[in-house]
Amino acid sequence: MPTTVTINGTKQTCDAPPEMPLLWVLRDVLGLTGTKYGCGAGLCGACTVHLDGVAVRSCTLPLSRVEGKRVTTIEGLSPDGTHPVQQAWKLEDVAQCGYCQPGQMMAAAALLAAKPKPTEEDIASALAGNLCRCGTYQRIRAAVQRAAT
Ligand code: FES
Repeated sequence: MPTTVTINGTKQTCDAPPEMPLLWVLRDVLGLTGTKYGCGAGLCGACTVHLDGVAVRSCTLPLSRVEGKRVTTIEGLSPDGTHPVQQAWKLEDVAQCGYCQPGQMMAAAALLAAKPKPTEEDIASALAGNLCRCGTYQRIRAAVQRAAT
């Protein structure tokens, strides 16, 4: 039975197994490859998307759990790249290899939507589960602060 989900503002009918992780529905079924696969176990944050505005790990979220909900991926954060988080990321020159950055930006955008003026502790807490092997954490925190101003 197909699953109906609103993805980046468009209602979609996904003909995929209900147990399929949302990450693979996005990447392999819908071709939205901006959401990345890191660990597949909910530990690294590379696959972070928004579910009804809240940051979630798509690698451990079965398609059946998103029926009727709103999913936003990095492609839908702002199609023209003008979201404050995207702009701040560019200005702070955050990315190194870039692989984890879509997940980092989605986590940051969810934080700022919930708390427009976060403290350093809020930022550290909200992004604690998003790992970066290049160690860009300082620039990430600076970009979140910039996006919040
Ligand atoms: Fe989902 Fe690592 S790929 S948390």
